[in-house]
Amino acid sequence: MTRIVAVSGSRSADSTTRAALRVALDAAADAGAETDLIDLAAVDLPLYHPDEGAQGDSEALKRRVREADGVLAGTPVYRGSYSSTFKNFHDFCGSDEYADTAVGLLATAGGGSYGGTLEHLRSTFRNVHAWTVPHEVGIQGASSKVETGAAAPGGEPRITDEDLRRRTERLGRVVVEHAERMRE
Ligand SMILES: Cc1cc2nc3c(=O)[nH]c(=O)nc-3n(C[C@H](O)[C@H](O)[C@H](O)COP(=O)(O)O)c2cc1C
Repeated sequence: MTRIVAVSGSRSADSTTRAALRVALDAAADAGAETDLIDLAAVDLPLYHPDEGAQGDSEALKRRVREADGVLAGTPVYRGSYSSTFKNFHDFCGSDEYADTAVGLLATAGGGSYGGTLEHLRSTFRNVHAWTVPHEVGIQGASSKVETGAAAPGGEPRITDEDLRRRTERLGRVVVEHAERMRE
């Protein structure tokens, strides 16, 4: 079975990035994939140190990426780029983890500008030999368009903007399609 893992680069308890990734992951599951979520708010991952080997959960997290056929990478826009939390995870994972892996990109912004963030993700994923898919998702004013589900007990995440919801679901499906093609 095709395995898709989402990586959420926000440490916020009520993260819109994680919620949007869950929408994409659900679409990936509907397309027949086995899904998994790495929530970087909930892992033990110290600041990467080049002189250290395994640190905290690093080996288990790397294995989850290595074993995935596709990755959904999501980050909040921080200062026009991706978050330090996502960068730290990026520094742990290299081409051993990402070779032959399809990667879909998603960014959530407080304001209106996510283009630089998606470009920075795309160029740095190229450096680890990942195959980023052309379809991508940027969500402007995310707090008004993404319901995280945290307000209601057992609440499901939801993207209220129809067009963005469809784009996000499509991201999940496209990553599954590319991952399946790469497995053939
Ligand atoms: C340190 C920091 C820097 C930010 N920089 C930007 C920015 O440059 N542009 C922008 O549109 N939003 C910016 N934001 C807002 C976040 O991108 C936005 O709230 C995002 O949806 C948060 O995602 P989350 O809910 O998953 O944590 C910033 C927020 C923080 C905390």
